[in-house]
Amino acid sequence: MSDKVAIHMEKAGPNFYDDEAVFATYMQHRQRSDTPNETLEKPVLMDLIGLITDKRILDLGCGDAAIGREFLQQGAASYVGVEGSHKMAAIARQTLADTSEQIIQQTIEDWTYPHAAFDLAIARLSLHYVADLVPIFTKVFDALVPSGRFVFSVEHPVITSCDRGWKSGTPRQDWIVDDYFTTGLRVTNWLGGTVQKYHRTVEDYFHLLQEAGFMIADLREAHPQREYFHDVQTYERRKRIPLFLILAAHKPG
Ligand SMILES: C[S@@+](CC[C@H](N)C(=O)[O-])C[C@H]1O[C@@H](n2cnc3c(N)ncnc32)[C@H](O)[C@@H]1O
Repeated sequence: MSDKVAIHMEKAGPNFYDDEAVFATYMQHRQRSDTPNETLEKPVLMDLIGLITDKRILDLGCGDAAIGREFLQQGAASYVGVEGSHKMAAIARQTLADTSEQIIQQTIEDWTYPHAAFDLAIARLSLHYVADLVPIFTKVFDALVPSGRFVFSVEHPVITSCDRGWKSGTPRQDWIVDDYFTTGLRVTNWLGGTVQKYHRTVEDYFHLLQEAGFMIADLREAHPQREYFHDVQTYERRKRIPLFLILAAHKPG
């Protein structure tokens, strides 16, 4: 196979982020002002997480682990990040270099989850890269203590349903939703690469949690809030299309 063909081959989540050019573009994107992650996803996630003092935290698909650093500064007891991309895991280790916390370079699917070891599990924008969430949610359930909480964000199902009509890198002004109830693999162009994602409906995420034994506490769609935006035009534009779905659940006490 020629390099030219290989460059355009679709990649699974961790391999996608290990691509030199994709990784560099992703890290640049996260530095921009008013990123959707900072303005939309993180405020809701933090609201649903609440107090983290003395909590033992597991982060699945932790990326650069910047949030782990924040949690530790706010008094979390410990933080374990699981990250499939070698490049991302290396950055995460740098982020936590002056702590004794662990970054595990493994996939969410392959890691051996310890039993009843965490008070809180989070997964920020990593689970839509996982083909089968049934075993993952069961493992997260088992890894939590009774009353332990699971809060995760994914790309909103209207986004994962179909990307027809969107040119990656251009601001979304409107969005085509199609094949919504045909769930499963999607291949999409993003950050100059081609990645595999898995589309699920809102209902699917809800039922997957219930079937694993979780009690669902909240479901949010990251409704834009003006206070988080520097730029009013970006705020107005973000009111058009939902980008994130965030769920909070807990293991019964
Ligand atoms: C959009 S980034 C989000 C990173 C971080 N959670 C954040 O919000 O800043 C998605 C991350 O999930 C990781 N990831 C994707 N699929 C994964 C898998 N199957 N196992 C482990 N990590 C995975 C990617 O390598 C990437 O670092």
